[in-house]
Amino acid sequence: MKIPSEPYPPVAPPGSLLGRDLLSAADLTPAEVRRVFATAASLKAEFSVARRHSHPPLVRRTLAMLFERPSLRTRVTFEAGMLQLGGGAIQLTSGNVGWGVRESVADVARNLQAFVDGIIIRTGHHAIAVELAGAADIPVINALTLREHPCQALTDVFTLREVFGRLDGLVVAFVGDGNNVYHSLALVAAGQGVEIRLAHPPGFAPDAEIVAQAAALAAANGGRLVLGHDPRATVDGADVIYTDSWTSMGQEAESDERRAAFADYQLNEALCAVAGPAARVMHCLPAHRGEEITSEVMDGPRSLIFKQSENRLHVQKGLLVEILGDPDADGAGDGTEPAPSAR
Ligand code: CP
Ligand code: NVA
Repeated sequence: MKIPSEPYPPVAPPGSLLGRDLLSAADLTPAEVRRVFATAASLKAEFSVARRHSHPPLVRRTLAMLFERPSLRTRVTFEAGMLQLGGGAIQLTSGNVGWGVRESVADVARNLQAFVDGIIIRTGHHAIAVELAGAADIPVINALTLREHPCQALTDVFTLREVFGRLDGLVVAFVGDGNNVYHSLALVAAGQGVEIRLAHPPGFAPDAEIVAQAAALAAANGGRLVLGHDPRATVDGADVIYTDSWTSMGQEAESDERRAAFADYQLNEALCAVAGPAARVMHCLPAHRGEEITSEVMDGPRSLIFKQSENRLHVQKGLLVEILGDPDADGAGDGTEPAPSAR
């Protein structure tokens, strides 16, 4: 397909977050989050028409993707995203690299920084991602730890803005575990003026430090943080109800206990009815149909779930362009070699 010459605003010069790590959703200021959204929206607009970018901004950039846990969306959207932006990605698993086992996390960092331009890591232990970022002189992006999932949260709030046309004053009710997905969502949403509520069973509260950070962001940016135990009271009047699996990766030994504790927290049509006819539904996926969400809700007209999934691609591309982009590049992405004098 021929690509129209100027169909959408051109992608802003890349690199506002050049070289930065993203370990926590709080590593980006609310203004930086909006910057990523603007870049992502431009990339999405062009890609949605042409299925390619006329001037890929990350030609020959490479990304190492360290995965200690399974993934569909995160892995594919980062790899496809890098390819679409003109670069490439290499998937590495803990089984074949053995970070912290075959060699130290710091030594893995020292090697990778000589080979590639950036790293994403999915690990249960947030401390490993922090250690990797501390040792590497190239950017490290958290692709999920048990503490946070910032790429998911950026996508979710981007999706909210796309669907509702605004974020200020929106009410998002998270029903379920005060987990990694909730943590990052609370941090991003609170900073964009969203009222973010949580209903969780006693014993499954979010991390107190993250709650304090999110509350401070809410206070400074017109958002609101509400915590409770009653799913019906929590969703009452909400614009969106969000849920996630009751058992996160790495918690499989607790799954029976969790299934019992969360039994009254299912996102079903009866709960949606409390929120009202216009309420929409979100889930980061993978979903356990019949547990935390029913198929009726997931596949019904309220669902934004597959839109969230699609937007992982566009928002992470925005993030990659901002973090790995070269603001000094002249005509970056046109695929030509720089003149020898420019080297
Ligand atoms: N939502 C999400 O991160 O999906 P994956 O675990 O499949 O990457
Ligand atoms: N809370 C879930 C999210 C999966 C994307 C987990 O950590 O397994």
